[in-house]
Parts: sequence; C-alpha cells; structure tokens
Amino acid sequence: MSGQPREAVTPGGSAQSESNTEDRPPSLAKVNLRDKLALFDDHWHPRVVAELNGQQVKVAKVEGPFVWHHHEHEDELFLVVEGELDLEFRDQTITLRPGELLVVPRGVEHRPVSRGETHIVLFEPKSTLNTGNVENERTVKQLDSV
Ligand code: NI
Repeated sequence: MSGQPREAVTPGGSAQSESNTEDRPPSLAKVNLRDKLALFDDHWHPRVVAELNGQQVKVAKVEGPFVWHHHEHEDELFLVVEGELDLEFRDQTITLRPGELLVVPRGVEHRPVSRGETHIVLFEPKSTLNTGNVENERTVKQLDSV
C-alpha cells in the first residue's frame, strides 16, 4: 500500500522544505511517537518527526535484515520503541529492546536486523543517508515529515 499521507503537516510546523529552517517560528508541538508510527506501514522508510541543531529525530518500522553499511561522518542513534532490534557489527551483535538505545559511531559497519516488526527512533545529523555508504533499493534520499 502506498497511500501515505505525504503532505501531512505537524501542528506547529515541522520543516517541510529545506529552505525554511532559519526563519520558521519555534515549535512547541509535542510529538507522540505511537501516533506518528500509526501513520505509515512500510518498512525501512524513516519519517522525520522533529529537527534540532541540524539533527533529525526520525521514526521507522523495520522488519527483516537491512544492508551492511557505515556512515563516514555521522554517529547514529537507534532507540527501540516496540519490538526487538539486533544491531549486527562485524565482531558482535547487540540486541535492543523497548526503552533501550545504542549509538553507532561514525565509520563503524553495522546491519540492523529485526525478526518481527520493530518500531524505532533514529537521531542523527540531517545529512545522514539511511544506507550510509551504500546505495541500493533501500536508499531513501528524500525523507518525508509526519
Ligand atoms: Ni546506519
């Protein structure tokens, strides 16, 4: 199903375009992660729910294995809201459960894997591409806000 609410605008005004980050009024709208996650069903397609200091807070639903990749310049925070996420590294696997987070340092190869559907929050610089140094069918270059 592809009928996602791409035009959705957060009350209080999440940045919908690249150009208005300087002059938009400060937003005091709270974000309910559960509500945001209920707005879409596709996997491995992060949505932006907040921005601050050049960083973005994103939510995503994931299931199954992602691709091995690393981020040359960005540290990447994973926080599990619901479900279970294995973060595979070349020498170990670390499992995150609800309420647990991990920061993957820049340059470190990783592959997120989820056995069932898992809901996660990502916190990382705006420049971060979901597949890092890899470009394939999983790469999402233009992120929507919800
Ligand atoms: Ni990554």
